[in-house]
Amino acid sequence: MADKGHFWFDGAPTPFVAGQTIIQAAAAAGHYIPHLCYRPEFPPHGSCKLCSVKANGKFTSACFEPVTEGMKVESETPEIQGYRKRVVQMLFAEGNHYCPFCQQSGNCQLQAVAYHLGMEDTHYAHQYPRRELDASHPDTMIDHDRCILCELCVRASRDVDHKEVFGVSGRGIHARLVVNSATGLLGDSRFSASDVAAQVCPVGAIVPKRAAFAVPIGQRRYDHHDIGESGDAPPSATSPE
Ligand code: SF4
Ligand code: FES
Repeated sequence: MADKGHFWFDGAPTPFVAGQTIIQAAAAAGHYIPHLCYRPEFPPHGSCKLCSVKANGKFTSACFEPVTEGMKVESETPEIQGYRKRVVQMLFAEGNHYCPFCQQSGNCQLQAVAYHLGMEDTHYAHQYPRRELDASHPDTMIDHDRCILCELCVRASRDVDHKEVFGVSGRGIHARLVVNSATGLLGDSRFSASDVAAQVCPVGAIVPKRAAFAVPIGQRRYDHHDIGESGDAPPSATSPE
C-alpha cells in the first residue's frame, strides 16, 4: 500500500497518510468531525458515537476507521448530523447538564457540540439522576451528574499519569465513574490537580476548585467560536477563549 493517498471527504478530495483514521486525516485537512471521547493524544475509545460518519455507504466511527484510497466519507449530511444531534440529546437527558449554572459553561465540549449541531431541546425525557458530588479533594471536585463516561480521565490517569485513579464500574445505565481509593473518594486517592487526568474532561465533571469564574462566562472559548473552528476544549474553566 502506498504511504499516501486521497479520499473523498463530503465530496472534497482530501489527502491522507497510511495508517491515519478518518478523524485524523480529516483534522489534518482542516475538517471538523464532532467527537467527545476522542482526543488525538490518546488511543481511540469509541464510546460516544458522535464521530459517526458513512464510509463507502456504511456507518462507522471516524475515530476508529482507517482511511483507504478512494474512500467516500460522508459527514455533514442532514442524516448524519441528525443522528449526532440525537446522541447529544441523549447525553443531556441522561445527566444533569444545567448549562446556565455550570462553571464549565463556555468551555464545555458537550455544550459546544450541541450549539454546533443546532440542538434546541433534549427530545428525550430527562432522567434527573441523583449522583453524589465528590468534593473531598482539596483542589478538584467531581460532579458525577455531569460525567458522560468518555473515559478520557481513565486513559490519562492510567497511560500518562501512571496512577490509575479512575475507572468505570457497572454496565449500561448502571455504569459510573469510580475512584480508586479505599473510600472511593478522590481526596483519598493519588490524584493531584497537576495530573493530566485533571485537564482532559470534556464536560464539567472534573473541575478545579477556587478557579471556576477566573474567566467570566461570556469570555470563554466557545462563547464566541463554534467548536468546529476552535477545536477541543481548553484544560479548565480558567482558560480564556
Ligand atoms: S469525569 Fe469527565 S473525563 Fe472522566 S469519564 Fe466522566 S466525562 Fe469523561
Ligand atoms: S469520538 Fe469516536 S466514538 Fe467518540
